[in-house]
Amino acid sequence: MSFRALLSSQVDKTYTHEVVELDDSRLPAGDVTIDVDYSSLNYKDGLVLTGRGRLVKEYPHVGGIDLAGTVTESGSPRWKAGQQVLLTGFRVGEIWWGGYASKARVKGEWLCAVPNGISTRQTMAIGTAGFTAMLAIDQLEQAGMRPGQGPVLVTGASGGVGSTAVHLLSRLGYEVVASTGRAAERRDELVRFGATEVIERDSIADVPERPLLSERWAGVVDAVGGSTLSHVLAELKYGAGVAACGLAGGDKITSTVIPFLLRGNNLFGIDSVMRPVEGRQEVWQRAASTMDLAMLDAMTTEIGLADLPAAAETILQGQVAGRWVVNVNR
Ligand SMILES: NC(=O)c1ccc[n+]([C@@H]2O[C@H](COP(=O)([O-])OP(=O)(O)OC[C@H]3O[C@@H](n4cnc5c(N)ncnc54)[C@H](OP(=O)(O)O)[C@@H]3O)[C@@H](O)[C@H]2O)c1
Repeated sequence: MSFRALLSSQVDKTYTHEVVELDDSRLPAGDVTIDVDYSSLNYKDGLVLTGRGRLVKEYPHVGGIDLAGTVTESGSPRWKAGQQVLLTGFRVGEIWWGGYASKARVKGEWLCAVPNGISTRQTMAIGTAGFTAMLAIDQLEQAGMRPGQGPVLVTGASGGVGSTAVHLLSRLGYEVVASTGRAAERRDELVRFGATEVIERDSIADVPERPLLSERWAGVVDAVGGSTLSHVLAELKYGAGVAACGLAGGDKITSTVIPFLLRGNNLFGIDSVMRPVEGRQEVWQRAASTMDLAMLDAMTTEIGLADLPAAAETILQGQVAGRWVVNVNR
């Protein structure tokens, strides 16, 4: 038996990728084997495919941090053949062969069921990005964020985490302000996904000279980090928080403790990768049930395995809009 995969190889600092047919004996030693339908493209997949970040320890490698498909064999008491499952995180696609293949073998303890009411393709349209956006919103809500308190900001709004966060927040009744570096090109789409206002990335990208600016945001889902995160920390309303999800704009922040001391603000870290499996299913179900599936489909672009090397460059240049799913049989 064999399967199709995008096999990545490394020679010195050169990374090459080829769509190949591999024997099943090449699969890693997990307890659940899956016929994969779809994977997706995330910022981290861009890093893995280009070798940036040195996330992969051994080559040849199969990337793809997300996957969804059907169980074909299982030695895990939690799963049986025929069940539709998904996997995000746990460093699959980095230190374990991932979703850029028509078969995957993984640990049953890493899997969730495909949420009720959505397809494997829609599951991957949500993917790590949408799961992270849902975790961020859950975290802000646990800290008291509610609709009606004022605008909630989403940074990097055209990207995967950003566009899913805009849509989820809007469906949950929030007033959503979308910050993007591509306002001219992306404004109409972002409004369609649920943004009430679209602002230019540059307008919130400078490190403020004063520790506090006018109170503006009832919450922030931040995919950008860097000076943008430094800026928005000074603009939070009293008691509001930022969910820091990403670093597309940089990993260094410059701030003071003043917003935390005088406005009771919070900075929450969001990690989707090693998030314990307990509670993941509920987060997935909430994301799937909250999304307007027609809108999710509208924010989805489908590519094939051979398209991935070029797509990796596109996402690292900040040029991917919405979510790109990978049809591993295409
Ligand atoms: N914490 C976690 O568990 C977790 C999970 C998923 C992703 N992430 C991180 O979250 C970030 C977004 O991931 P993604 O998959 O959504 O990537 P993505 O689709 O590429 O989205 C990133 C967006 O950030 C904006 N951006 C890009 N370069 C920028 C720059 N130099 N300065 C300011 N803004 C910039 C762009 O949006 P605009 O064009 O609209 O400005 C871009 O679309 C990444 O850093 C990723 O590593 C973390």
